[in-house]
Amino acid sequence: MMVLELDRVRRTRGVGPHAVEALRDVSLAVGGGEFVLLEGPSGAGKTTLLAVAAGLLRPTSGDVCLAGRRLPAMSLGECRRHRATRVGFVFQRSNLLPRLTVGENVVLMAVLGGMAREAAKRETTRMLEALGIATLADRYPHELSGGEEQRAAVARALVHGPAIVLADEPTGSLDGVSGRAVAESLGSLAAERGAAVLVATHDVRLRSFASRRVRIVDGRIADSEPDLG
Ligand SMILES: Nc1ncnc2c1ncn2[C@@H]1O[C@H](COP(=O)(O)OP(=O)(O)O)[C@@H](O)[C@H]1O
Ligand SMILES: [Mg+2]
Repeated sequence: MMVLELDRVRRTRGVGPHAVEALRDVSLAVGGGEFVLLEGPSGAGKTTLLAVAAGLLRPTSGDVCLAGRRLPAMSLGECRRHRATRVGFVFQRSNLLPRLTVGENVVLMAVLGGMAREAAKRETTRMLEALGIATLADRYPHELSGGEEQRAAVARALVHGPAIVLADEPTGSLDGVSGRAVAESLGSLAAERGAAVLVATHDVRLRSFASRRVRIVDGRIADSEPDLG
């Protein structure tokens, strides 16, 4: 079953003389269990595509279907609630709430995603262990290295068992060990729980985890190829 479907999506960014056609007729489908890399040069439209897929930006035209719902037909409030329960998002920067500990950040997202408090705590412990940061649960974001912070952000995105995870260059600033932990967590979410995973990245180290690569250039999908390692 397709978890994400973009159908002939166009999206303009900016206004007036600065307007750019960031997405031009993009069609893309990602099924449960797939780990898809979205590759392409800077400015190609990767971040815009992820934002449209998450319902954070509306398409100028075209349709987006996410976890069984058509996003353009929903109000922004409905979109937000749908996103909280069904989508995990990893931003380029971690976006952890600075006044909450790592553990509290992850538990909060689980509860917002619809989990009961005890289950949320249990799942948080499991996620932090999987990402190798269980000992950091009581630290605040500013007490973490960049790699630790990004792993915490991934734990937060995965904790409620979303139908799809959208990640924007999640390993860009990470060393080999942290990058591998992030890639493995995303990979096992796809493989074990059948979630769809779509990752915008320049990082060639992620290719060995991917089931498919899609390239975007100048707002258009250029080609799509199976992963050959
Ligand atoms: N807020 C914005 N206002 C105007 N133009 C933007 C904005 N955000 C992105 N763009 C433009 O849209 C295009 C696609 O950007 P983006 O989706 O961020 O690409 P990528 O993530 O692949 O680097 C680029 O030409 C970029 O300059
Ligand atoms: Mg980007």
